[in-house]
Amino acid sequence: MKIAIIGSGAMGSGIAQVLAVADNEVYLYDTQATALERAKESLRSTFEKLVAKGKLEKEQANNIFDNIHFVATIDALSDCALVIEAIVEDLAIKQQVFQNLEAVVSSNCVLASNTSSLSIASIASACKRPERVIGIHFFNPAPLMALVEIIPAVQTRSGLAEEVKTWATSWGKLPVITKDTPGFIVNRVARPFYSEAIRILEEGIADCATIDKAMTEVGGFKMGPFTLMDFIGHDVNYRVTESVFQSFFYDPRFKPSFTQKRLFEAGYYGKKSGRGFYDYSEGATMQQAKEDTELYEIIYARILAMLINEAADALFLNIATKEDLDIAMTKGVNYPKGLLSWGDEWGWKNVMEMMDSMYDYYHEDRYRCSPLIRNLVLGKKSVY
Ligand SMILES: NC(=O)c1ccc[n+]([C@@H]2O[C@H](COP(=O)([O-])OP(=O)(O)OC[C@H]3O[C@@H](n4cnc5c(N)ncnc54)[C@H](O)[C@@H]3O)[C@@H](O)[C@H]2O)c1
Repeated sequence: MKIAIIGSGAMGSGIAQVLAVADNEVYLYDTQATALERAKESLRSTFEKLVAKGKLEKEQANNIFDNIHFVATIDALSDCALVIEAIVEDLAIKQQVFQNLEAVVSSNCVLASNTSSLSIASIASACKRPERVIGIHFFNPAPLMALVEIIPAVQTRSGLAEEVKTWATSWGKLPVITKDTPGFIVNRVARPFYSEAIRILEEGIADCATIDKAMTEVGGFKMGPFTLMDFIGHDVNYRVTESVFQSFFYDPRFKPSFTQKRLFEAGYYGKKSGRGFYDYSEGATMQQAKEDTELYEIIYARILAMLINEAADALFLNIATKEDLDIAMTKGVNYPKGLLSWGDEWGWKNVMEMMDSMYDYYHEDRYRCSPLIRNLVLGKKSVY
C-alpha cells in the first residue's frame, strides 16, 4: 500500500518504520525541514542497528529504508490509499491539516488520526467526507508496542474499522476496536493504576517504594506505579489524566491529584528531569520499601480492584469487546493479565466487596462499583 504519514516526530517516524518493514511504500511529511531530517537520520541509524544485531540483512534494510520517502509538500501524497496524521495534539491544527489533505487525496483515501486525547468525531467534523475518517492509535515506541487501537467515529462508514483492522494485522500489530470515548481503552482503564497509588500515598498508608513493591511483587506488574509515572514523565501523564477527567464531564472516578499536579508545575517530570516521585540525581539515596507483606496485600487489592472495576465498567458501557479490553491492557501497557480474566480469577464477589468497602468508608463516587460486577455476582457468572 502507498501510505502517507503526517508529522515526522516520535510517533510519525516510529509508524513509518512499522509500515515500511511491512512492505508498504511510505511517504513521511512534515512542515519542519529539521524534523524531517532528524527523522531520516534516526530511521537510518535504527536500520543500521537492526543490521548490526542481525535482525535484518543489509540489503533488506536498504530496501526498507528506500521505501520511505521524506517529502516536504503534501502534493506528493495525492495517490495514497491511507494517510495517518501524527502531528501536534491540537484540534484546530489537526482539522486544518485534514481539510488540506482532502483537497489533495483521492475520494476513497482513508484519513486516520493517531490522536491520544481528541475525539475522532471532532476531527472528522472538519471534513467534506467524514465517513472516511477514523482513529488509528499506536503506542510509543510504535515499532515495539504491538497494540493499535482502532477508533471509528460516529461519522465513520460502517465496515471501515474492520478493513483497517485487516491492514493493521498485516503490519504485524494486534489491533482492537474501541468506541470514540475519552482515553479510548488503555488511557481510560489504566487511570486507577496511577490515581489510586497516589491516593494511598496521600493518605499516608504507604510510601512510593512500598506501593511500587506491592504492585511488582504481589501484582506481577513490570513497574510499580510511581516508577512508571516517573518514566512516562509527569508532563505527559498528568496532562493525560487531566484531559480524561475533563472529557468525562468531571467524573470523580478520573479526578487528578494535587500531588502530581505540583510535580508537573515544579518541572519535576520524573526520570528525564532528574526528579519526580523519586530523586534520580547523582548520589541520591533510593527510597527503601517497608518489609510488610500484609501491607503489600492491602495495597495490591485496592489498586487491582479499582483497575478491574474500570475494565468492567468499560465492558458494561460497550466500549470494546471483553477480548479487546484484555488484549489492550496486556499489549498496550504490558499488564501481567487481562483485567477481566483477572476478575474471573480473583472472584467478582471479592472485587465487589472491595469496591463496596471503599465506597462505604469514603462515601466518594470515585469508588462506585460497576453494575456489571453486581450483575455477575447476582447471576453467579464470570466474564469468560
Ligand atoms: N508520544 C506519545 O507517547 C504518543 C503516543 C500515542 C499517540 N500520540 C499522539 O501522536 C501525535 C504526535 O505525537 P508525537 O509525540 O509524535 O509529537 P512530536 O512533537 O514528536 O511530533 C510532531 C511532529 O509534527 C510536526 N507538525 C506539527 N504541525 C504540523 C503540520 N501542520 N503539518 C505537518 N507536520 C506538522 C512537527 O514538526 C513534529 O515533527 C499526537 O497527536 C499525540 O497525541 C503520542
